Amino acid sequence: MLERASEALRGAQRVVVFTGAGMSAESGIPTFRDAMTGLWARYDPAELATPQAFRADPELVWGWYEWRRALVSRAQPNAGHVAVAAIEAHVPGTVVVTQNVDDLHERAGSSAPIRLHGSLFAPRCSACAAPAPVPAVVSTAVSIGTLAADGDVDPEPEGQRLAPPICTGCGGLVRPGVVWFGESLPADALKAAVDAAARCDLLLAVGTSGVVYPAAEIPEVAARHGAMVIQINPQPTALDGIAALNLRGSAASVLPALVAAAWPGQK
Ligand code: OAD
Repeated sequence: MLERASEALRGAQRVVVFTGAGMSAESGIPTFRDAMTGLWARYDPAELATPQAFRADPELVWGWYEWRRALVSRAQPNAGHVAVAAIEAHVPGTVVVTQNVDDLHERAGSSAPIRLHGSLFAPRCSACAAPAPVPAVVSTAVSIGTLAADGDVDPEPEGQRLAPPICTGCGGLVRPGVVWFGESLPADALKAAVDAAARCDLLLAVGTSGVVYPAAEIPEVAARHGAMVIQINPQPTALDGIAALNLRGSAASVLPALVAAAWPGQK
């Protein structure tokens, strides 16, 4: 199956790499289906990632995002992120579309990932929408456990409520620059992603459960327009049906193997 996938990759002119939380799992960033630890253990991410949660308890929600930003800041791109950047180097018409709010694709060398769900590094005012500075100091209450032998980072029980900064322009509360449940995706990013999916000849869906819309439409758009969809995920997902090939394995193991098989002997 890897052979067929690598042939398709080698022959593709326009590739879309569509990524979700599983892409960063092996960098130690928990997915949205993983149980949370520490202060967050009582919460479901889907409950914290809403405008209602921020209005009801801004310190809880801001503290959670600062904890996540700290986790990401101390994490490193994994071999899967590096392989995605290598695909872009081999196939210049590659577009990375991510649902992730971390910056690991950029740090691995992907040039301009399209961010459907915003970024942990772009806070803005919740009232006037003015961009706000990224807080310089990551909460000292945040600590990360040691890297386990299996490559997983075990976050120690941690986390704290934090008061969000105040907007210097209007005095409103600063919020994370991410898309919350019930909010619209950035229109320009969604349009760019749909356009890229409609034009591509191969879409790689990596580490996403494919259940959160409208982002989950992106692989569907590609399939409808005749592109081949190849999925990389250790588990079955909602995208299994539209994928021509389901490569069951982790991003950090399958993607480098795919790149090595597509372009043997090259970086
Ligand atoms: P999910 O947490 O829903 O799904 C993660 C997927 O990654 C699952 O299908 C896992 O099987 C898979 N996975 C786990 N480890 C993996 C690994 N090492 N390699 C490859 N795959 C692995 O994450 P998303 O699909 O990204 O939205 O979730 C979509 C959206 O829902 C998120 O962007 C976020 C969330 O709630 C918002 O916050 C708006």
